[in-house]
Amino acid sequence: MAIDYQERIPNNVDLAENRVLQRALEHWQPRFLDWWRELGPTDFLGADVYLRTATSVDAKGWATYGTVKMPDYRWGIFLADAVPDRRIGFGDEFGKPVWQQVPGEHRSTLRRLIVTQGDTEPASVEQQRLLGHTCPSLYDLRNLFQVNVEEGRHLWAMVYLLHAYFGRDGREEAEELLARHSGDRDKPRILGTFNEPISDWLSFFMFTYFTDRDGKFQLKSLAESSFDPLSRSCNFMLTEEAHHMFVGESGIGRVVKRTLEVMKEIGSDDPAAIRAKGAIDLPTMQRYLNFWFTSSLDLFGAENSSNAASYFATGIKGRPDETSFEDHICKEGAMTIDVPDGKGGVRQEEVPLRNAMNEAVRRAYIRDCEIGVKRWNRLIAKAGVAFELSLPSERFRRAIGAWANQPVDPAGKPISAEEYAAKLPGWLPSESDRAFVKSLMQRVIAPGKMAAWIAPPDRGINNLPVDYEYVHLH
Ligand SMILES: [Fe+2]
Ligand SMILES: [Fe+2]
Repeated sequence: MAIDYQERIPNNVDLAENRVLQRALEHWQPRFLDWWRELGPTDFLGADVYLRTATSVDAKGWATYGTVKMPDYRWGIFLADAVPDRRIGFGDEFGKPVWQQVPGEHRSTLRRLIVTQGDTEPASVEQQRLLGHTCPSLYDLRNLFQVNVEEGRHLWAMVYLLHAYFGRDGREEAEELLARHSGDRDKPRILGTFNEPISDWLSFFMFTYFTDRDGKFQLKSLAESSFDPLSRSCNFMLTEEAHHMFVGESGIGRVVKRTLEVMKEIGSDDPAAIRAKGAIDLPTMQRYLNFWFTSSLDLFGAENSSNAASYFATGIKGRPDETSFEDHICKEGAMTIDVPDGKGGVRQEEVPLRNAMNEAVRRAYIRDCEIGVKRWNRLIAKAGVAFELSLPSERFRRAIGAWANQPVDPAGKPISAEEYAAKLPGWLPSESDRAFVKSLMQRVIAPGKMAAWIAPPDRGINNLPVDYEYVHLH
């Protein structure tokens, strides 16, 4: 179904047919715009930005590109096409028709899941709101804004579900999504990672690589949901999400590339010498990676979770790519997980499959994270540099689950609390690392020019040259 752009709220959900819902959402719309003006990217409201906008949910050619001022972006409500006669794909209700309405017994659980997902979308816009001032290029500035407007649209996707299917409670939750703010002392965002400020571009690239990828896996799990409108919303959000992770992967790759160029130029791998040339040494990148990867791991929840078991049993939330599994019931069988043995070692525990769903998704996520790491390491190896970036163990620096607050080194080896306390600062970005990275954050806005710490991208956006003026500042 084509998207109706004549409406105040572009949509492919026949909004004009439901006046009550349309009015409620039109009432929310100005609040969203106020939020964007107050907590979206600062000082760029008048900039002309080359952005893509969703115009259909067709897999081929679903978006158009054009120059737009961000407050005029056409945020809308788009669901992927319905799958005819779609059936529940997992759990106790396997094979029954999916739900077009929310079953009463699952109402509060579904509402909480939608609110939690919805909360992350505006949170990341808030986290990144100051980054525009220190963009390394117009190309990157445009990518930041693309990610920001699409996270705004993802908020719209969740708010639509709340308004359309959860009545008054849903409308109240939609207001709350604009009332909580990232890092706010009184009303913080729901999940920890989304309250961490993202004040430099290295963190932004790490966030889009690791944390947006968590988003991908959450969306893929929700896309399996028996609640069909949620499934269709998430399926379309995934189309937009791919670019966010591309920004992260290519961003980190370009920083690595520039560092390797500088290392070659000066013939040294001494971090101080590399920093003196205005590039970011590889060990510092590893520390940033350690930080963002581990905080993203916690977003999947505990290894052994009765909530996860009940989401699966009831058909509310499945595993990414559920059809690729053989067993969709998972009543039998167990997953072996490593847990602390309480004596400074590791022991294995058998967790019933349904209870181990979080861990199953986390493992798929880790495998997906490895792909980029391998690509970056290929660049490093090709430059003849003996250094490898690596993902730390999933036991390292966890705040949730069996390994929460356990002293473990990045290789996953349990160590003494004293050793951990002494070494942890060296495994994470230190104050001086952050200050150094911050010192590099100088705005570069001449078309085609790049900051000294990052290499140019291989190509521009939508076949335009890298030196295209992707953002016109006034
Ligand atoms: Fe999103
Ligand atoms: Fe995203």
